[in-house]
Amino acid sequence: MSLLIKNGEIVTADARYVADIFCEDETITRIDRDIAAPPDCEVIDASGKYVFPGFIDPHVHIYLPFMGTYAKDTHETASKAALVGGTTTFIEMICPARGDKPLEAFELWLGKAQGASACDFTFHMGVTRYDDEAQGDFEEIVRRGVASFKVFLAYKGAFGVTDEELYKTLTLAKRLGVITTAHCENADLVLELQRKLLAEGKTGPAWHYWSRPPAVEAEGVHHLMTFAEMTGAHVYIVHLSCAEALQEAMHGSARGVKVWVETLIQYLLLDRTSAEADFEGAKNVMSPPLRDASNHDVLWNALAKGFASTLATDHAPFDFAQKQMGRGDFTRIPNGIPSLEDRVNLYFTHGVKSGRIDLHRFVETASTNAAKLFGLFPRKGAIQPGSDADLVVYDPNYRGVISAKTQLMNLDYNSFEGMEIAGRPSVVTVRGKVAARDGKFVGEVGRGRFLQREPTHF
Ligand code: URP
Ligand code: ZN
Ligand code: ZN
Repeated sequence: MSLLIKNGEIVTADARYVADIFCEDETITRIDRDIAAPPDCEVIDASGKYVFPGFIDPHVHIYLPFMGTYAKDTHETASKAALVGGTTTFIEMICPARGDKPLEAFELWLGKAQGASACDFTFHMGVTRYDDEAQGDFEEIVRRGVASFKVFLAYKGAFGVTDEELYKTLTLAKRLGVITTAHCENADLVLELQRKLLAEGKTGPAWHYWSRPPAVEAEGVHHLMTFAEMTGAHVYIVHLSCAEALQEAMHGSARGVKVWVETLIQYLLLDRTSAEADFEGAKNVMSPPLRDASNHDVLWNALAKGFASTLATDHAPFDFAQKQMGRGDFTRIPNGIPSLEDRVNLYFTHGVKSGRIDLHRFVETASTNAAKLFGLFPRKGAIQPGSDADLVVYDPNYRGVISAKTQLMNLDYNSFEGMEIAGRPSVVTVRGKVAARDGKFVGEVGRGRFLQREPTHF
């Protein structure tokens, strides 16, 4: 089985040129001008279009037991949504309850994704408890190909870890060469501020912001920087939302901490007023919260200049009925703003088309850097012979509007409803097979493969 993509303008993190891409079975085998199609080869005309490496979302939640409910997507619905939007690989957070056995959690999450996902996937292993027994499991999970951990400095009493556990996790990560991703908010401050606000009768979604203001996130980042400095572990700050937190990360980096920063499409385009529209605002409650719009330029600049390495979604879909759990108490609103389907198109529209991000940086931050940081490069995140044939033929002339009515994400709203997009994938391939075409899923459910990764962060 072969595939030939002809006359597209190939754009990677560091190159831009017109050529044909020939793929045999699952792999890119040749890139050249005027490649002749052998018999039975599927030919795709990419004239006038870009050809990008498949995009990678390094932070998604699909199976997620959280805040007394479960996120709405299955691996089937989520992967279909990912693919029509150009994302060919995602990294899901394994989030066990504190009492769960980590190895069993790993097997549970893997079992849910295998045979159900249409795109390739891997995991960050959530460390939500650390003791001798759990340590043995984490070592085994790394041997099985999960080369990254996830810790929550927030969510006290749920996923959150103590400082002792954080220190031990980072020490283990350093020894194993594993990078640790971290949700940075000071859990005690959040809890105290929540209590104070509720006691004052401040119960609506708008108060979520005031329970986790920028200083709470900045303190979380500062805390992580100190622990990373003491242990020498490599750390990756997930969903960084504001200037104050970025400053702490940059201070850490300046004194030698090995730190990378992820931000989200939500933080670039939405602001805290979206969570203030009476209870409808609950749809836009996530943690850290949407910030003042003044942070938009800071985060765009961080992506453009390299202070932020990746743009993710933190996809965590809870429908409006689930959000009702927090009516009368904002602390019970399930946190999450889904955007797995729309990340790439929104980023292209508001980043590339508006001149904030150049094409190479766009590819780097939405694909290549995640592949490099998480041990997938050059299998993913690249267009070169030997790489997986995950390709996005992208039409920069497409015009459309985002709407929950047409989305594949299993959700009854879209926080970007009504926003225009100026670009969309025409064709998306996963390991040499077409999986999406012009907004429609045409792939194979269950074909997605678990990507085993080697530790690279020594
Ligand atoms: O609000 C969020 N971010 N929901 C998903 C869980 C997490 O903290 O990543
Ligand atoms: Zn988080
Ligand atoms: Zn998350």
